[in-house]
Amino acid sequence: MVNRQALIIDCDPGVDDAVALMLAFGAPEFELLAVTTVGGNVPLKKTTRNARMLRQIAGRGDVPVHAGADRPLRRKPAGAGEFHGEEGLGFMAPFAATGPVADGHGVDAIINAVMEREPGSVALAVLGPMTNLALALRKEPMMAARLGSVAVMGGARGEGGNITASAEFNVWADPEAADEVLRSDCKVTMFGLDATHQVRATDARIAAVAALQTPQGDTAAAMMRFSQKVEREIVGWDAPPVHDVCPVAWLARPDLFTLKTCRISVECQSELTRGHTAVEFRPAIARNLPHQWAVGADADGVFELITERLR
Ligand code: BDR
Ligand code: CA
Repeated sequence: MVNRQALIIDCDPGVDDAVALMLAFGAPEFELLAVTTVGGNVPLKKTTRNARMLRQIAGRGDVPVHAGADRPLRRKPAGAGEFHGEEGLGFMAPFAATGPVADGHGVDAIINAVMEREPGSVALAVLGPMTNLALALRKEPMMAARLGSVAVMGGARGEGGNITASAEFNVWADPEAADEVLRSDCKVTMFGLDATHQVRATDARIAAVAALQTPQGDTAAAMMRFSQKVEREIVGWDAPPVHDVCPVAWLARPDLFTLKTCRISVECQSELTRGHTAVEFRPAIARNLPHQWAVGADADGVFELITERLR
């Protein structure tokens, strides 16, 4: 395919990160430059190990995995092991992946890739707390203007939160990082719970992925089955949202999502509403609208894309 999108995936696998990685590893739409990891759902050592395991399953030893930040900018590290399992990949037992962790910190890997390539040509999908991107912007402020699309899974508005009543986990885990990113010149498109709750792994959709009978399909199906089990137990939902797939699917197929321009601000003061994303759509009030907020998703289209790319 000509004109592949150069892409870095910054993530904290995580069962839904794993499905998103399988999609990215299998998508000819992308030139996958690197996977960078962050402490989030589980500690950094585990997210990095999990990324290496997933890379091996997908047969993508060519993609470097760099370890990034092990803690948020200011907050204590918090995990989401109840939704991802103690090791982060649900039912999947850890194994010793053969491919190494790449030399160099994840933050430097992001900076180097963006600064070496043509301005605007490298996209970043952020599927965990935004710590690595915030640190990269502190270290190389010129990077914000040179980055292409920054597609983020994070934030909560109409749907309410999933870690507190008003906040989504990734933004809540490191609100100061999200705040710094959203105040920068980065071209941020956010896939918050308003959109990701529309993209749910129903039994039929999981079965279609499992029926591929490929290592990637088996892995993604196992992740979604684990999510289904815990969402049933904890939240009472039958079909779990597959949050992290959304930004990656959008980068491959923008037509699958409906976006609205806006200005997104993050609550960093109050403990009660820590990490809430205030989304302002009114141009006269916001003065300018530098961000995009996903309001709609074609879930059938997203799952067709997953099923095609994991084949
Ligand atoms: C986000 O939080 C994490 O637990 C998931 O991997 C996803 O990135 C959803 O709120
Ligand atoms: Ca994640």
